[in-house]
Amino acid sequence: MLSLRQSYLLACTVLGVAAVPYNTFDGVGFPACNDVAAVYNVTSVDEMVQIVKDAAANGTPVRASGKGHMWYDTMCQDDPNTIIIHTEEANQITEFSLEEGAASGSVVMEAGVTFLQLAEYLHERNASMGYTLVNWNITMAGAVAMGAHRSSIREDSMVAAGVLSMDIINGNGDIVTLDRDNTNDDWLAASTSLGLLGVIARLKFKIYPDFKVYAQQLTLEEDDVLNGDIYNMIAPYATANFWWWPYLKKFHWRTYDVIPTNKSDQQGFQNTFSVTELEGNTARTILDSGKYLATSNMLMESIFFGQWSEPNFHEKTTDEKITDWPVYGWNYDVLIGGLYPGQQPEWDYNLHGMTLELAFPIIMANDMLKRVRELFDAEWTERGIIMTSTYRSGINIKFGKPYYDLLGQVTYDTSDGADWSKGAIMFDFPSFKPTIGDKKRFNEEFYPRLAKTLVEEFPCRPHWTKNTREVYGNATKNIDPDHLARFKVVREKFDPNGIFKSIIGEILGLYD
Ligand SMILES: Cc1cc2nc3c(=O)[nH]c(=O)nc-3n(C[C@H](O)[C@H](O)[C@H](O)COP(=O)(O)OP(=O)(O)OC[C@H]3O[C@@H](n4cnc5c(N)ncnc54)[C@H](O)[C@@H]3O)c2cc1C
Ligand SMILES: *[C@@H]1O[C@H](CO)[C@@H](O)[C@H](O)[C@H]1NC(C)=O
Ligand SMILES: *[C@@H]1O[C@H](CO)[C@@H](O)[C@H](O)[C@H]1NC(C)=O
Ligand SMILES: *[C@@H]1O[C@H](CO)[C@@H](O)[C@H](O)[C@H]1NC(C)=O
Ligand SMILES: *[C@@H]1O[C@H](CO)[C@@H](O)[C@H](O)[C@H]1NC(C)=O
Ligand SMILES: *[C@@H]1O[C@H](CO)[C@@H](O)[C@H](O)[C@H]1NC(C)=O
Repeated sequence: MLSLRQSYLLACTVLGVAAVPYNTFDGVGFPACNDVAAVYNVTSVDEMVQIVKDAAANGTPVRASGKGHMWYDTMCQDDPNTIIIHTEEANQITEFSLEEGAASGSVVMEAGVTFLQLAEYLHERNASMGYTLVNWNITMAGAVAMGAHRSSIREDSMVAAGVLSMDIINGNGDIVTLDRDNTNDDWLAASTSLGLLGVIARLKFKIYPDFKVYAQQLTLEEDDVLNGDIYNMIAPYATANFWWWPYLKKFHWRTYDVIPTNKSDQQGFQNTFSVTELEGNTARTILDSGKYLATSNMLMESIFFGQWSEPNFHEKTTDEKITDWPVYGWNYDVLIGGLYPGQQPEWDYNLHGMTLELAFPIIMANDMLKRVRELFDAEWTERGIIMTSTYRSGINIKFGKPYYDLLGQVTYDTSDGADWSKGAIMFDFPSFKPTIGDKKRFNEEFYPRLAKTLVEEFPCRPHWTKNTREVYGNATKNIDPDHLARFKVVREKFDPNGIFKSIIGEILGLYD
């Protein structure tokens, strides 16, 4: 067998000339990187180290990737020599520690461990990861790298908030261990590193005794939210969010909190993306016609709203549909869940989306939502166009507890002078990307107009995997220049030659 080093060089010779896109979870036509020279499916941290050492010696650009669960071509830099360290198969979990009666413990995992894998591992051991979770089929390290988060004002929900320490492979191929320490800029940069310091190879993560939760959902009129006390509708709960249906002028209001383990035997299991083939194909057909006809989108929003009013939960033990709120079950199953047996995620039926996600200080929540409503209404009054949500779960409105680091979306004490101390509201607007014609969305021009207005008028910050290059370009002005300067110092120390550079890093000016 060839040694790793030999096979790497061989692969470079063979693939170096034939650069190919590296795609997101959406597959062909959805590049995370437009051109890469090679993808390495590593199975250990040692292999990652070896590849980075080779790359460093050759000045080869390198990025780590987990599951490609991101939206746009912002993972790499635009250099066809780029190689990808695909971490999915390096997924050992070790050093489980949770003492009987202790409030928390810890576990160590390699970069490729997904939320689903960790949740199953912990549940078997009567433990859980609390609320620092995002989605089932995403790596923990990929989520930490990009500052991903759940929706909560009361509890820590930045995935990085659960990290006790991390091992980063720097631009020399050396492993640097960083412990949580808010007085150390290395830590504050690593906490939301955008993958620019190196490969996050291992995480030591905080865990808790397992617990059960309920999920409850009510439907509200749009006015009740736009003019409501949003902070107090969200902050009392362990986790909570809204889904907005702009054509119907309604919101779903979802809340979750802890219940005693003996309260119910129900084992609710949530799905957000799992659909049957018939549902998937029907939705795609109607939404494709909505590229041209607003009425199709209005019909589809009404169908989606109706479906989303019911619990999107099955009983895990029998796979039977659960029909009544509230739903009870183990924390991970209720908070996240996954796919139902025999079903696929919607994107596997060619239901693809584009998105935009921005975070605003929660004290501006009413102003922001009202401004978006004005923009929807202006499409009608100025252009005669009715706007809708074309996504299965509407427009996703999430929240984030303040968490201090340099580039996170919910950091505070920033030069914009805005008050982030009560937390953030996130506006996450996925929209259907047609499979037909020029594949542009219905009223495509609306989306950049919306982004431009929000970014110009509010001190909002972009989610690091859910925006286009153009949005990052415009939103850079909203990021604290002092945070960027401090981050750059750490970046230059970890990766002096910029082998881990990405488009986002370039846009933020971290390589100027
Ligand atoms: C269906 C879906 C639902 C989602 N839900 C949420 C949500 O609720 N909240 C939220 O905040 N986000 C959400 N996301 C976004 C997601 O959390 C991020 O895009 C996350 O970074 C994806 O992780 P991944 O393992 O798939 O990484 P990839 O998509 O493979 O990579 C994402 C970025 O992280 C870098 N990276 C990956 N692994 C490493 C590593 N080990 N070391 C250094 N850099 C690395 C990559 O180079 C790339 O720049 C969702 C995404 C999808 C597709
Ligand atoms: C994980 O994601 C991939 C890509 O979207 C999908 O094909 C696969 O079915 C998912 N697996 C699970 C277990 O959810
Ligand atoms: C690497 O893994 C991906 C997905 O798991 C797979 O599609 C691909 O064929 C693998 N590549 C190699 C060279 O094994
Ligand atoms: C988990 O808890 C249950 C119920 O208290 C107990 O029966 C079981 O032995 C525990 N399992 C482990 C691995 O600790
Ligand atoms: C649940 O357990 C608590 C504490 O052990 C007990 O007080 C309560 O009566 C139990 N409730 C039910 C419904 O069994
Ligand atoms: C970004 O800003 C430029 C200049 O103001 C503007 O033309 C463009 O529409 C904006 N794009 C987005 C997506 O905000």
